[in-house]
Amino acid sequence: MTAQNNQVFAPGSTIGIIGGGQLGRMSAMAAAKLGYRVHILNPAATSPAIEVSASATVGFYDDPVALEDFASRCDVVTFEFENISVEGLSLLEKRRPVRPGGEILRISQDRVLEKTRLAQAGVELAPWKEVSGPADLSAVGELGFPLILKTTRFGYDGKGQFRVENAEALSALTDLPYPLVAEKMIDFQRELSVMVVRGSDGTVRCFDAVENRHRDGILDITLAPARVMPEVAERAQAIAMRIATDLGLVGIMGVEMFHAADGQLLVNEIAPRPHNSGHWTMDACLIDQFEMHIRAVAGLPLPPARRHSDAVMHNLVGPEDMARVPAILATDGASLHLYGKHEARPGRKMGHVNTLFPRGALPGELALEGLLPPRG
Ligand SMILES: Nc1ncnc2c1ncn2[C@@H]1O[C@H](COP(=O)(O)OP(=O)(O)O)[C@@H](O)[C@H]1O
Ligand SMILES: [Mg+2]
Repeated sequence: MTAQNNQVFAPGSTIGIIGGGQLGRMSAMAAAKLGYRVHILNPAATSPAIEVSASATVGFYDDPVALEDFASRCDVVTFEFENISVEGLSLLEKRRPVRPGGEILRISQDRVLEKTRLAQAGVELAPWKEVSGPADLSAVGELGFPLILKTTRFGYDGKGQFRVENAEALSALTDLPYPLVAEKMIDFQRELSVMVVRGSDGTVRCFDAVENRHRDGILDITLAPARVMPEVAERAQAIAMRIATDLGLVGIMGVEMFHAADGQLLVNEIAPRPHNSGHWTMDACLIDQFEMHIRAVAGLPLPPARRHSDAVMHNLVGPEDMARVPAILATDGASLHLYGKHEARPGRKMGHVNTLFPRGALPGELALEGLLPPRG
């Protein structure tokens, strides 16, 4: 692109964030810590990020007038929401540096592009096939069962996914929301993720690999570090760093992986933004994922991604978990983060809790159960 690629934006500059959710909120708080102003683009006038930012443009992500107004009010642009349209993104890129750049965003929006590009980067994936319409469906059985169909775009928290147990179930499927990808279901030992950050000068830093457990398709718990052999953790980090370098990332990225039963590490998906599985860094690292992201976007130095403690992160989801907040507030050692969402709908991420332990002293499975007050 242009020489603007290495531009440094000193504290006092305005960082524009596309999207007004909790990732934007925590990014904005990290930016404020370093003396930046944050300007948000969001369709609604109130949102978790707007409440902690200097200013906002209220408008849709593909509205040229809103995008123009947004761009005119910031020095550099980043995002917490990946699904801005290609046209919208091109418009912004003409006006301001966008970090990370457009190519990586386009890849992460589309599972087919993503898998194709990751394979080019030499990364191993779960066996997969493109399913652009009903005619492609019969061939997916070649992957073996069980398999999983996923919409190529706009999936999150397990939405837009269909598990298929056998050939009969496959042939019984109708009215699917094409285009899809089919993936073989991986028999994994655990799910891992790595947060990796890359600066515009090419510096790459990587947080420790962590283990993620899901509940109803939504991240429930992160264990930091992952309880794996050092060799596995290093391999996971090497994969994340390879992707960051290969894609020319500027900013932070979450890389989700399956640690398969046979020991292989298969990349599931990438998210070129702060990620829920990096929230543990807010309490267990001096410089957390959000500050790393802001530093990279602003062109500031990236210190090593050091972890001073082990941590367990619990997500708080929906009204059920919000009912636990008074008890969590009274729990010794629980660091509570709430996103300021006014309505606790089922399945909605409302906040998270970090609990710290000395390095090497993560609790065992039974103690893990008892860390927080139980669900009612
Ligand atoms: N190929 C697969 N094999 C086994 N489990 C899978 C596979 N794909 C997805 N899953 C499970 O579903 C979860 C959500 O899928 P993912 O592709 O990460 O979609 P989302 O965009 O909703 O996060 C994963 O974290 C994992 O638990
Ligand atoms: Mg995922």
